Amino acid sequence: MAGVKLLLSSLVMGLCAYYFYSTEQITPEMVKGKRVLVTGSSTGIGEQIAYTFSEMGAHVMLTARRAKQLQEVAKKCLQLGAGSASYVVSDMGNLTSAQNVAQEAIKKLGGLDYLVLNHIGGSGSFGSFQGDMEAVLSSNTVNFLSYIQLTSTSLKALLESQGSIVVMSSMSGRIGAPFTTSYCAAKFALEGFYSSLRREFKLNNNNVSVTVAVLGFIDTENAVKKVGDKVTMSASPKEECADEVVKAAVLRQPELFYPYWGIKPFLLLRDLAPTLIGDLLDKFYVLENIK
Ligand SMILES: NC(=O)c1ccc[n+]([C@@H]2O[C@H](COP(=O)([O-])OP(=O)(O)OC[C@H]3O[C@@H](n4cnc5c(N)ncnc54)[C@H](OP(=O)(O)O)[C@@H]3O)[C@@H](O)[C@H]2O)c1
Repeated sequence: MAGVKLLLSSLVMGLCAYYFYSTEQITPEMVKGKRVLVTGSSTGIGEQIAYTFSEMGAHVMLTARRAKQLQEVAKKCLQLGAGSASYVVSDMGNLTSAQNVAQEAIKKLGGLDYLVLNHIGGSGSFGSFQGDMEAVLSSNTVNFLSYIQLTSTSLKALLESQGSIVVMSSMSGRIGAPFTTSYCAAKFALEGFYSSLRREFKLNNNNVSVTVAVLGFIDTENAVKKVGDKVTMSASPKEECADEVVKAAVLRQPELFYPYWGIKPFLLLRDLAPTLIGDLLDKFYVLENIK
């Protein structure tokens, strides 16, 4: 009985939060002239986030490993209305390189208002864990430690601007997902670090917001190529995802769930009925296509 009451009150709270956040809007004036660093912006959600900020007149700094793609994205950012658009080529598997990216962005932009931590790589293939320590180390360097390095190097500038940190997480950062152990580990670590940091900022009266975006399956080229034939979930559009991420960042929301109804009910029920939720989620995997 107590469990049912808790479940009902959780659902009501979830509905209220969804209604509240989905009715708030942002305007270009809130973003124009802001200085934004978006990592992993040569393609996928990061590329779209750069476009959304550009359409509202922000100054954007892009980074990833592929110069040619970054050059193309920067060109499009300018066409869309960015105040300026530059890029720096970097491999986040190297923490010194990550540090250089943040330093270069702050120097070029003259400070920083938004640090969007989005890149993803080095997690190995989608499949069973067979003891591959290299994949664990590489994923945690690229997908966790480099995020912390970028944050550490940007901290002073963000405190000065009373800016925002945006961290891309996943449902796999809240509920363990099979066949992606290294990826899950990095996302859970990010959730721990940034939820702790958010509370620390609040207690220290540092007006820097931390938005964690908890995402479901999004239709980026790489994600569809990697898992498209291995799961039966339908993918949500990357353009809408990027718009929602930027909106949550500008409104300084602590969390975003996208797509909301594809994620939130599972999270609300996770602690009440973990086995049931695990069994339900397992049904989405096409085991014959997974090694
Ligand atoms: N798509 C989904 O279904 C989904 C679901 C949940 C969460 N997310 C999260 O959303 C974020 C974006 O996902 P996405 O699907 O847009 O990814 P994506 O399309 O694969 O793009 C990844 C970006 O990271 C860059 N990158 C990869 N390895 C790098 C490295 N070693 N150093 C620097 N940059 C590197 C890539 O550019 P280069 O190759 O040029 O370096 C690219 O710009 C990720 O944090 C992901 O975990 C995505």
